[in-house]
Order: sequence, then structure tokens, then C-alpha cells
Amino acid sequence: MSKGKILFQLTGSIACFKACQVLSLLVQSGYEVEIAASKAALAFVGEATLEGLTGRPVHSEVFAKSEYMNHIHLARWADVVVLCPATANSINKLAAGIGDDLISTLFLAHDFQKPYFIAPAMNDKMLMHPATQTSLRTLAAWGIRILPTESGALACGEIGSGRLLDPARIFNEIQTVCERRSACASKLPLRVLVTAGGTREPIDGVRAITNFSTGRTGSGIAERLAAEGHQVTLLRSKDAVRPTKNREGLRERTFITFSDLEMALQEELSRHEYDAVYHAAAVSDFSIASISGQGAERKGKIESKGDVVLTLRPNPKLVDSLRGFSLNPRIKVIAFKLTNTALPDERREAVHRLAVQARPDYIVHNDLSEIKEGDAPGTAHRAHIFATRNPDELREIAVAENKELLADTLERILRGDDYASQS
Ligand SMILES: Cc1cc2nc3c(=O)[nH]c(=O)nc-3n(C[C@H](O)[C@H](O)[C@H](O)COP(=O)(O)O)c2cc1C
Repeated sequence: MSKGKILFQLTGSIACFKACQVLSLLVQSGYEVEIAASKAALAFVGEATLEGLTGRPVHSEVFAKSEYMNHIHLARWADVVVLCPATANSINKLAAGIGDDLISTLFLAHDFQKPYFIAPAMNDKMLMHPATQTSLRTLAAWGIRILPTESGALACGEIGSGRLLDPARIFNEIQTVCERRSACASKLPLRVLVTAGGTREPIDGVRAITNFSTGRTGSGIAERLAAEGHQVTLLRSKDAVRPTKNREGLRERTFITFSDLEMALQEELSRHEYDAVYHAAAVSDFSIASISGQGAERKGKIESKGDVVLTLRPNPKLVDSLRGFSLNPRIKVIAFKLTNTALPDERREAVHRLAVQARPDYIVHNDLSEIKEGDAPGTAHRAHIFATRNPDELREIAVAENKELLADTLERILRGDDYASQS
């Protein structure tokens, strides 16, 4: 039985011969492999070699007789897509959205739901060229896995970075992702807890300390995960934005105060075996310890005649306790961090502090300056997603420009496409 379907694409680099070793390892390990090669790639390695390795014909034309829809069919057919070796030209074309040959057109038909690996190979000047660097960053932000290059002697006679990663390592990267995906698929649907909205600490019967969280991010994530067939519990504040559609598999539970949320989290995580928790709720840093002043003893509504003194007591950080509450010791914890600083170092430091203290698997970070006023679904709301299993090696794995793209990225993470092996 096939271990997975791989669309393996080659572009015109001298490293094509090394890509053949990756191909050979994949075929020998039981993967089904279809090959697409650029015209330049076929100048480096013959169709006979590629067909001999896979036992299948090589695709290289958009307008090939009887294969006119290959750019859609192959993109749909594959579980995983690989571009190896990836030339500077192909990387720049993909990032620019050009579709003037089979490989670039296939990328335009890529749905971003399946892993797409790029293994660059080129002269170090080509690699460091601002166009190539910008394109690599763009592609990484779209969730494409950019494999590292190696340093050493290059085909052009120079020494530098830009050598194709060792074929065995490329094979391992692909194999790890395929195995993770099939382990995850065999266990679908996954059980997920999502928190959303802000806590509210009542001062009296009509007033409260709260925050501006709308709960839209958490609700959107919950709705998206449920739409993908996962079993989702949305733990939202009573006045948070609700999911727009009633989805099968989406259960809601509400909270008002910090204590309600703490209790609900504890109950949910300790009674049910959740696979992941997305903690997007804005939890009050303080609860009200005491209220003093004239009329403060009146429970319904404190009179507004004189000074009233509120004493606030700091709340513990719930995100630190999620793993401890959880019946499943391997639960994936996704924490959220909002900062308010224009300085990149301060933002990173805040993410690092949270990573050290709460040990989440991922942190979704936004800064207030990157959230537009009146932010509504579909409007820009940039989020940076960090893999934080090792807090000393924070890795920004994706940038989502709006809430829909954030929900997409978080769904991929849940399915095991976490790019964590990327370096
Ligand atoms: C001998 C030779 C070696 C080359 N090696 C590389 C390479 O390693 N990486 C690269 O980006 N381009 C390399 N090129 C240039 C590409 O082949 C060229 O940009 C081509 O147009 C790429 O087309 P493609 O991206 O459609 O395959 C090389 C060209 C020659 C003639």
C-alpha cells in the first residue's frame, strides 16, 4: 500500500542529480511519486532517468496533449508537494504569482491545505539576492516549508551557502511530515478546546471591570475547526461574538468571570481527552479583592456619592496551568500574546517570556499597532505564529494577514503540519 502521494518537481539546477537520490529514497520507501520537471531541469537530468526511477511519465508541459488539466489534477492528487531543487528563478516566480509554465501554474492551483516543501539550490549570490530573500520570506509567510541550504563548495567553483540540503535530510523532512499527517488522519476528528472573549469582574450589579476583547478571533477559529470536522468546544465569554453558523461538532459553553473560566477550563481539560487547546480568551489580570467607601456595601448598585476604593488582586496566569489541568499529557497548547510596542526586540522578548513561563507549543502574537480600528472579519489583523517548543529557539513559522488566514494556519497546525522541523 502507498505511504502517500508526492508530487516531486525539479527545476534547472546542477543539483538535479542529488534530487534523484531523494526520489529514489521516496520510491524505495513506498511513496507514490509523480514528477513535474521544468524545461531547464530536463537539461540537467534526462526524462529516461526520472521515468526509470518512478516508473511514471514525466510531466513538463501545461499544454500537453490529453493532459491539459494536469495543473489542477496533479495539485489535487498529491498529499505533499516538493520543489527540489528549487532555482532562484522558480522561487521568485512562485512568490510573484506568475504561472507561465507547469510548475508555477501548479503552484497557483495549490490550496495551502497540504504541505509544500521548497529545497533551494543555487549560487550564494543568487540566494542572497534581495529578490530571492524577499520571495523566500513571502513563501514562508504563506506556510511553505523552506528547507535550509548547506554551505560548502558550489558548482560554480565558489565556496558559500546555497548547496542543496543533503538528500537524506530532505527525505527525512518529507517522511516525518507524511507520517505525522497519516497518524493524525487515522485519529480524526480531533477534540479541541477554544477559549474566546474577555472576562468580566463585577464591581456591583451593574458595573464591571473588563476589556475590549470581542471574542471574534476565538469564535472564528472554533468555527473553522468545526467546519473541518473536528470536535470543538468553544468556551466563550457570555457577550463574545458567536460563530456565524451552527456547525455540527461545535459545542459552546460560556463564562463571565476569571473564576468561571478557570473552573470551566479545569473541568473540560480534566474530564475529556482534548488533543489541543487554543487559549485566545483575554483574561483579566486582576480580580476584585475588596470594595470600600460610602455605600460600597450595597450589593445592587453602589451609590455614586463619594469615593469608592477597589482593591485588585492579581490573578494567576491560566495559560500556565493548561497542561497541568489536562488529562492528555501530550495536548497541544496554543497561547496568544498581545503586545503594545513598536520595537521588534520588545515584542520578541514578550513572546519569549510567555514561551518560557507557559511552555506552549505555539504562540500567536499580535501587536496593537498592527490591528486596525473597528477590526472586522476579513480586515487586516496581522498575526505572527511562533513555534515555541524550545523557547530558546523561537521560530516564526507563519504570518497571517487576517483572521481567516490565521484560522487556516491554526487548522494546519492541528493536523500536524506544524513546520516545526523547519530550520
Ligand atoms: C550549468 C548551470 C547550472 C545552473 N545552476 C543553477 C542553480 O543551481 N540554481 C539556480 O537557481 N539556477 C541555476 N542555473 C540557472 C537556471 O537553470 C536558469 O535560471 C533557468 O532559467 C531556470 O529555469 P527553471 O526555474 O524554470 O528551471 C544554472 C544554469 C546553468 C547553465
